Amino acid sequence: MSNESLANLLKEERRFAPPAELAAAANVTAAAYAQASEDRLAFWAEQARRLDWATEPTETLDWSNPPFAKWFADGTLNVAHNCVDRHVEAGNGDRVAIHFEGEPGDSRAITYAQLKDEVSRAANALLELGVTKGDRVAVYLPMIPEAVVAMLACARIGATHSVVFGGFSADAVASRIQDADAKLVITADGGYRRGKATALKPAIDEALTKCPQVEHVLVVRRTGQDTAFTEGRDVWWHDIVERQSAEHTAEAHDAEHPLFILYTSGTTGKPKGILHTTGGYLTQAAWTHHAVFDLKPETDVYWCTADIGWVTGHSYIVYGPLANGATQVIYEGTPDTPHQGRFWEIVQKYGVTILYTAPTAIRTFMKWGDDIPAKFDLSSLRVLGSVGEPINPEAWVWYREHIGAGKAPIVDTWWQTETGAMMISPLPGVTTTKPGSAQRALPGIAATVVDDEAREVPDGAGGYLVLTEPWPSMLRTIWGDDQRYIDTYWSRFEGRYFAGDGAKKDEDGDIWLLGRVDDVMLVSGHNISTTEVESALVGHPAVAESAVVGATDATTGQAIVAFVILRGTATDSPELVEELRAHVGRTLGPIAKPKQVKVVGELPKTRSGKIMRRLLRDIAEGREVGDTTTLADSNVMNLIQSQLPAQG
Ligand code: WT7
Repeated sequence: MSNESLANLLKEERRFAPPAELAAAANVTAAAYAQASEDRLAFWAEQARRLDWATEPTETLDWSNPPFAKWFADGTLNVAHNCVDRHVEAGNGDRVAIHFEGEPGDSRAITYAQLKDEVSRAANALLELGVTKGDRVAVYLPMIPEAVVAMLACARIGATHSVVFGGFSADAVASRIQDADAKLVITADGGYRRGKATALKPAIDEALTKCPQVEHVLVVRRTGQDTAFTEGRDVWWHDIVERQSAEHTAEAHDAEHPLFILYTSGTTGKPKGILHTTGGYLTQAAWTHHAVFDLKPETDVYWCTADIGWVTGHSYIVYGPLANGATQVIYEGTPDTPHQGRFWEIVQKYGVTILYTAPTAIRTFMKWGDDIPAKFDLSSLRVLGSVGEPINPEAWVWYREHIGAGKAPIVDTWWQTETGAMMISPLPGVTTTKPGSAQRALPGIAATVVDDEAREVPDGAGGYLVLTEPWPSMLRTIWGDDQRYIDTYWSRFEGRYFAGDGAKKDEDGDIWLLGRVDDVMLVSGHNISTTEVESALVGHPAVAESAVVGATDATTGQAIVAFVILRGTATDSPELVEELRAHVGRTLGPIAKPKQVKVVGELPKTRSGKIMRRLLRDIAEGREVGDTTTLADSNVMNLIQSQLPAQG
């Protein structure tokens, strides 16, 4: 942001030092920054040694053909061995790997020894179905342990998985199966969501009418609902997996062997198949999980509430935690089934110590009320994580106070599907945190903020977030489209990775993420970030959530239009709307005062919880609402329109 007056926009002055006890015993101390800045590659070579290699790598990074990186290229390893077998071999086979909590209340504990047997059986079943190293396997499952087993079984035999979120439509699944050219699909009869069994298999049946190359469909029985079967193609998981041997020798794969493809949710254009490989990915997923959550595998109970269909589920449910031998909770369902305290009931039941969730969930909990978490014993929690969007300072403070008992450090972790693992985040035993800021690139990571001309901005100014050095878990390309990889990420700023996010450096050089650059507004020649106006609104006691857009305006270029959801205690009135406008003006300066504030009951979100501002812009500009196929709830736009008075 070039404008001086906006450099001071977020005047967030609250600071929280790490708890002394946590700092004293932290896995990673401030020395890691110094060590990594002295020799970044030596730092990563050391972190790679956290893994079990069949062949130790001698070369750390090959950047001879940028932007195509190779990490640890002459090393070989097996990811499933690292995530499962080695813990059993080390004598930890009886440790619980997964506490599974089904939405209807069923639960299962799976030890590392049991997980090893199950992954080996599944690997043998994949081989029997004709899947071999290098093949692609699509996974379309609910949040059940078999999703983890399926991914690890693929990794074990060197098949590349492509997990498609279980909420995606048949068309979305079909295009992803086609693009990856998958020959096997692993799905389930259904899963439990919002108190009922939701079918999954029909979407696969429909998708496969367009995917003739798929030879088999492996179907997990979860709900027991009626399920159509295609003779010769479809196979029940329990029929084939259970009769396999629990012995399977994990072969080592090259460090650069393709581990998975994951399609980004992208709001426009053909989905991008982000390709991640083996050794560098696992190194960074494992190290960041160890460092940023301060994981103590013997005593911690970790819970990441993401779905396995998103990268957060890949890196911080499957690969990072299991590589570290963690005990974790996996929950199948929604946070308000059967009641709005379900998450807190789960934290209490399992004694969760580390919780990783998203700002959209935190704002929903705020809206439901402080009294709900207050009914449960959350005293086990010691580290709280946030990911997916900028977290508004008020939501951050609420999370710390009401979930973290005013003492658990919050790690606001910035990263992307493309980065594969965390990139910018506080360290819980080191960083004095600032509500709303992801703060500083992790040791071994190089990030900065540049202006339009690629010049690094000074402290106190804003611009575009870029990554200036390759990192181990970086995407290697877009599946089947190297040119698009170069164009999308490496062409905007010569030699630097363009993340697509706006960001600001504060006076201490700490980074504040400001949302996707497409979401920055231009009002009377000033760049104003939607995130900052939204945070100001959420900072008002009457507001639970907000989404801000820039609508074309004859006088100012763009005018700020805010959509707000009120907290349970507030009611809509012209006076409140005026007060909210004035509140933003006072917080950020008169230039950021919204021209209009519209009170609504819902906001349009993608299935991963990101607000689709494009659709709100359509409303604000009085246009017909555009493509809503990636919305989590397709009725939301009708609901919002019915709540608004006719356009003036
Ligand atoms: C985009 C990536 C990373 C896993 C989940 C999302 C936004 C993510 C933060 C954060 C501010 C964040 C960015 C980023 N984002 N984490 N802590 N603070 N913004 O993965 O779907 O690939 O989305 O999410 O805009 O570019 P994704």
